[in-house]
Amino acid sequence: MQAVHTVAELRTALAGQAGTALVPTMGNLHAGHISLVELAKRHGSPVVASIFVNPLQFGPGEDFERYPRTLAADCEKLAGAGCDIVFAPDVAEMYPVPQTFTVQPPDSLANDLCGAFRPGHFSGVATVVLKLFNLVQPRVAVFGKKDFQQLRVIRELVRQFNLPIDIEAGETLREADGLAMSSRNAYLGAPERLQAPMLQRELAAVAAAVRAGERDFEALCDAAGRRLKMAGWRVDYVALRDAETLLAATRASTRLVVLGAAWLGSTRLIDNLDFGLDGPA
Ligand code: PAJ
Repeated sequence: MQAVHTVAELRTALAGQAGTALVPTMGNLHAGHISLVELAKRHGSPVVASIFVNPLQFGPGEDFERYPRTLAADCEKLAGAGCDIVFAPDVAEMYPVPQTFTVQPPDSLANDLCGAFRPGHFSGVATVVLKLFNLVQPRVAVFGKKDFQQLRVIRELVRQFNLPIDIEAGETLREADGLAMSSRNAYLGAPERLQAPMLQRELAAVAAAVRAGERDFEALCDAAGRRLKMAGWRVDYVALRDAETLLAATRASTRLVVLGAAWLGSTRLIDNLDFGLDGPA
């Protein structure tokens, strides 16, 4: 595996390559990220993983500074997974001039769910992902369903800008107790870590109730949020949506997704569960 840190090195490494598969990450890699590399290997070659903690997608007071940076360990994991090239630029390489040209996702996505609590976040994500797409020019790019709204933003970016890139979605990898793997889980203290799988359990309870025929979505989500609050969480939202559009679920929706974001102490966790109304989840 080749590790490159500049745009010039990346271009040299990729010269003449067609079917590249890209896996964008912010590093501090866990098995969930690695599963995306494995998925990428099935869809293209060479496989490029990017590692870049993108300042544009962090708001003031968020965890940009303390976000874990573990490049050496990440490279070992990527090499073990059969990644061909890792692109790990620094901030000055990615943003040699202030990034005053930005991508603004539609309000319905940018200001909804996580966007409502993290102003500018999805613009920062879309902008860096568009830059990565331009730099790597992949034929396919892989994103995790763990960040369900982000995946929706990227699909819309590709569609509305006619980018010739297939977007593949990877399932969410979880710890044995159901907690979705996340770099941010490292922030959790021991008691918080024990509490953390509750978010996933509450989302699963909403999904189970809907699949059993319950149709008062708002009441279900409110009840899940209330139970989280009683257990000490600060809840940003619990919401049930159409899994394709991410808009309010309607009677015509056949795939739904229940999404949640909530804080344990100073750690914000997100999770979601998508499921069909007929047949297996
Ligand atoms: P990061 O949080 O590092 O995640 C990189 C990719 O890994 C994303 O597509 C995310 O959905 C996926 N991922 C995270 N946890 C996962 C899990 N438990 N199972 C499977 N996949 C998982 O998302 C970002 O970085 C950034 O916003 C980025 C797209 C790189 C733009 O900066």
